[in-house]
Amino acid sequence: MEPHSGERAPPPSSGRGRVEGPARPIGVFDSGVGGLTVLRHVRAVLPAANLLYVADSAHAPYGDKSAAFIEARALAIAEFLVERGARALVVACNTATAAAITVLRSRFELPIVGMEPAVKPAAEATRSGVIGVLATSGTLESGKFAELVQRHGSQARVLVQPCPGLVERIEAGDLDGPQTRSLLAACVEPLLAAGADTLVLGCTHYPFLMPLLRQLAGPRVAIIEPGAAVARQLARRLAETGDALGEGEGSERFYSSAEPARLEALLPRLWGRAAAVAPFVSGR
Ligand code: DGL
Repeated sequence: MEPHSGERAPPPSSGRGRVEGPARPIGVFDSGVGGLTVLRHVRAVLPAANLLYVADSAHAPYGDKSAAFIEARALAIAEFLVERGARALVVACNTATAAAITVLRSRFELPIVGMEPAVKPAAEATRSGVIGVLATSGTLESGKFAELVQRHGSQARVLVQPCPGLVERIEAGDLDGPQTRSLLAACVEPLLAAGADTLVLGCTHYPFLMPLLRQLAGPRVAIIEPGAAVARQLARRLAETGDALGEGEGSERFYSSAEPARLEALLPRLWGRAAAVAPFVSGR
């Protein structure tokens, strides 16, 4: 979770689809479907909020792309969400947070909450003194992650594990097939063999693999995903800015930069119910 800071410029002035007050939506985005694991916590904490979700699935995975590319994507998506009246943004992607949250906060004057691997809670919780962080190469190689480990990693040995190929399996809806299982096993087993008793899910796609992870890691290993903490942080930020939380039942609108039918086919499984998906088309 990212603390909020810094001076910000006014947001772009476009008012397409603008509504006022608590009906104004909260914009959430990820390189693809991973951010849905955060969106479900946002929905639980803010039942009345109207939510906009952008899956940049045409460009997933972000994990092996340059920081400059991810920054450009994040700016285009944030602009799209702000144009649709967003009163807050959740960067529901560790890789995009590492690459772009600083520039997003400098461009948009609204609460922006990001993700970061939960190294601090893991370092506090471990009994073996070894924690394993599963994340994309982009996250693990970022300056932000190095700072995080420097700040909180002195209490524990921090092992890092990129998992190339895993996000693609999840984007394809394969949460428990043999390919996903063997990729995940190859990521997790070295961490367990090195004595990790706490695993940090540093990519928002990975909570979809929780049942498989549980089987591989066994019941004694703690698995930490920060989605709930991020949703609570968002609610705090909205409360601080005096934003009413609204009443009744909120709505969700989904957008994808890939063929919308692809996400529509996945939503019943990954979101728990069917919903229409509109195309995400960036003005940039
Ligand atoms: N879900 C993302 C994250 O939290 C990005 C995965 C990817 O696109 O590589 O890092």
